[in-house]
Amino acid sequence: MARKKIIAGNWKMNMTPSEAVKLVETLKPLVVNDEVDVVFCVPAIDIIPVVEAAKGSNIQVGAENMYFEEKGAYTGEISPNMLVDAGAKYVVLGHSERREYFAETSESVNKKMLKAFEHGITPIMCCGESLTQREQGITMDWIRQQVKVGFLNVTAEQAKTAVIAYEPIWAIGTGKTATTEQAQEVCAGIRACIAEIYDDATAAAIRIQYGGSVNAKTAPDLFAQADIDGGLVGGASLKEEFGKIVNYK
Ligand code: PGA
Repeated sequence: MARKKIIAGNWKMNMTPSEAVKLVETLKPLVVNDEVDVVFCVPAIDIIPVVEAAKGSNIQVGAENMYFEEKGAYTGEISPNMLVDAGAKYVVLGHSERREYFAETSESVNKKMLKAFEHGITPIMCCGESLTQREQGITMDWIRQQVKVGFLNVTAEQAKTAVIAYEPIWAIGTGKTATTEQAQEVCAGIRACIAEIYDDATAAAIRIQYGGSVNAKTAPDLFAQADIDGGLVGGASLKEEFGKIVNYK
């Protein structure tokens, strides 16, 4: 069965709740495409108003992070239950900005992955190499490690429903998109890694996105690649351009 494309916006730390509602109103008619899952991953405080504003549309809502405990004395954190109750269906885990600025590790990402599955939230697990790692020729070693640790104790049935976002750090917010060949090569490598951990059926089912300066111009070629099942889009997801990316064909 062909994998359904999934195109997700990652709003990062942008949009107040009232700005968020306006953006959803603007984008709603532009992101209609039944062939694609369309997800807006938004700041936690925007989830409830965005879910409300997106009602009756094809927009699904996700969070940008989540904690791995159920509840308790974890000041400032947000639990899986809170996300579910607010209407979030997806959660971005292990984004490189969280790894870099908030000391997120593959081990904590793994704990969050397990919790997300437990609560029926689909994780979008990010991985990606730095420019130095690429230049040293260790891109695939590094990404295989991120994927293997991230998926520890995740069952094949769970993994089939997961999303992995390959985001080379040097391409995020820099305007430097990886070439289509580079993106396809790593996404194929990630799929091979999933086949090694699980089996071919799991590798064939899991969806792998490319992220890093995706725009309306680069999306068609990227999303036409055999192992690229859509994108995780930062900057361009805050603009009308996102409608063109969702309707990339
Ligand atoms: P960008 O961000 O599209 O602005 O490069 C992508 C991401 O960080 O998910």
